[in-house]
Amino acid sequence: MVPQTRYPSAMVTITPLLPHLGARVEGVDLSRPVDDATFRRIADAFEEHSVLVFHGQRLTDEEQMRFSERFGPLEATINSIGQERRLHPNLVDLSNVDPDHDEKLMGWSDRRMLYQSGNQLWHTDSSFKPVPAKASLLSGREVPPVGGETEFVSMRHAYATLPEGTRRNIDGRVTVHSILYSRSTIAKGLFDPEHERALPPVRQALVRVNPANGRTSFYIGSHAWYIEGLPYDESRRLLDDLLAHTTRSELVLQHRWTQWDLVMWDNRCVLHRGRPWDAAKHARVMRRTTLAGDGPTAEPPFATRTELWDGIVPEGVGV
Ligand code: OGA
Ligand code: MN
Repeated sequence: MVPQTRYPSAMVTITPLLPHLGARVEGVDLSRPVDDATFRRIADAFEEHSVLVFHGQRLTDEEQMRFSERFGPLEATINSIGQERRLHPNLVDLSNVDPDHDEKLMGWSDRRMLYQSGNQLWHTDSSFKPVPAKASLLSGREVPPVGGETEFVSMRHAYATLPEGTRRNIDGRVTVHSILYSRSTIAKGLFDPEHERALPPVRQALVRVNPANGRTSFYIGSHAWYIEGLPYDESRRLLDDLLAHTTRSELVLQHRWTQWDLVMWDNRCVLHRGRPWDAAKHARVMRRTTLAGDGPTAEPPFATRTELWDGIVPEGVGV
């Protein structure tokens, strides 16, 4: 039995990291049941700061799932390369330790690592699903001594600082997202045909409002393929411009991992990406739980103009 220790919420401190993004949360042990007042402070800080960093959280898979579920239902992992040996369906295993070969380290040329390298593109988790993720919680179980950082930027801050004309141009639009599109920019053959059929392109509102606080954000990232109602080239250019505006270096929050950090982010208004490290030399083992979102964000949820696919994927790059 876990002792029912109560942590008075007064013990929790929340320290902003950047003026527009991120906060460090201290004074709580997430491996124990968290009382309601403490939980409320954490949930409020999440809505306000979008990225929360908790140091020294030595969590088991079950403890991570239990804390995550306080925020709402969890999402299940998609069937993809490297997830064949599933842990619990609510856990994503991000690791370069090969379970099939005596825990040997996998380098970047390994097909499973190539798939994972998609995480190095700016993205928001599960934007390719009809109900995209609300939040992700990533636990650093084993971290490399150099590299392998995770970076975050705020699409909410980016929306707030857009020129008025751009804001008018994007309000009310719908973007088509596809993981087959995003992974096609990396390599071919990353999905088996039966996986592909399970991942049709989805429609997402380009501009979203957080129902908890009314804050507005646009919603893009690596899976964002094209914007409906614009010529394809123009929509690609607009997506690239929005990304460049969001990811200016002075706006990036970089998290350098120490073992047992837990980092939680708001997928509705934050983009993130992993940074490379020497994967053939150092282990990096991370576990993610993902909160299901409210959705779909656009009706109907599935795109019908999938015939565009043939014209877009460059010759020789299958998916
Ligand atoms: C993720 C992710 C990046 C990283 O867990 O969703 O994109 O740094 N991770 O591991
Ligand atoms: Mn991710």
